[in-house]
Amino acid sequence: MSEQKIPHHIAIIMDGNGRWAQARGKKRVFGHKAGMERAREMAEVCGELGVKYLTLFAFSSENWNRPQDEVSFLMELFATSLKNESKKLNKNNVKLTVVGDKDGFDKTLRKAIDKAEALTQDNDGLYLQIAANYGGRWDMVQAAQQLAAQGQEITEEGIAAHLVTGGGPDPDLLIRTGGEQRISNFLLWQAAYSELYFSPMLWPDFDGDALQQAIADYNQRQRRFGQTGEQVTTAEQGD
Ligand code: FPP
Repeated sequence: MSEQKIPHHIAIIMDGNGRWAQARGKKRVFGHKAGMERAREMAEVCGELGVKYLTLFAFSSENWNRPQDEVSFLMELFATSLKNESKKLNKNNVKLTVVGDKDGFDKTLRKAIDKAEALTQDNDGLYLQIAANYGGRWDMVQAAQQLAAQGQEITEEGIAAHLVTGGGPDPDLLIRTGGEQRISNFLLWQAAYSELYFSPMLWPDFDGDALQQAIADYNQRQRRFGQTGEQVTTAEQGD
């Protein structure tokens, strides 16, 4: 792994928990539990590799339409994990933030989120962003609404600053597991120039080695941001 460029910001759509469980003759929620373990492991691996931002898509604005018992299980899993994990995250210098429409959650979960965010707010190791009750279109609308309410001009900088990711860096690498090749309303604005990596692996199987493979693939890409390949190569040689 020498000379690998490590992406500054990795965002992940963690798909395939349900299928992983069903393939084992278990209920879908069993897959979410395993998925949570993987999320925890991914944060550790990213911290070790020197990734600065990790954004995980845990629950979309549209996931409320799932069967009620699955939604309840996910909410409980989220709250319990925040309670159980926040001390360890804090010890590991991880700053945790939940990005999304937090007003949609019940009081217990909101409290657990506030507590975990407050505990870890001064940390400067890995910035772990959990996207929950999040939708990319909602994010853009709420940013524009804030600008309008403040009587500000609608500009690119203004919108970027008011997105829930708050003017932080855009993802360099956006990974989706589970075999589907779509963005599903995740970070629509922020992913404008992200390198996309689709893995057929189901999320509970996506381990550190799989992440290394995604990073190796990312290293083969030439990020052009609208320029020509020649311009980019010349600029790189001048570095
Ligand atoms: C997609 O798999 C996964 C979700 C909608 C939930 C993701 C949640 C976790 C990984 C656990 C919670 C993690 C955190 C960090 C709070 P799916 O159910 O759509 O799988 P399928 O496509 O096989 O049905």
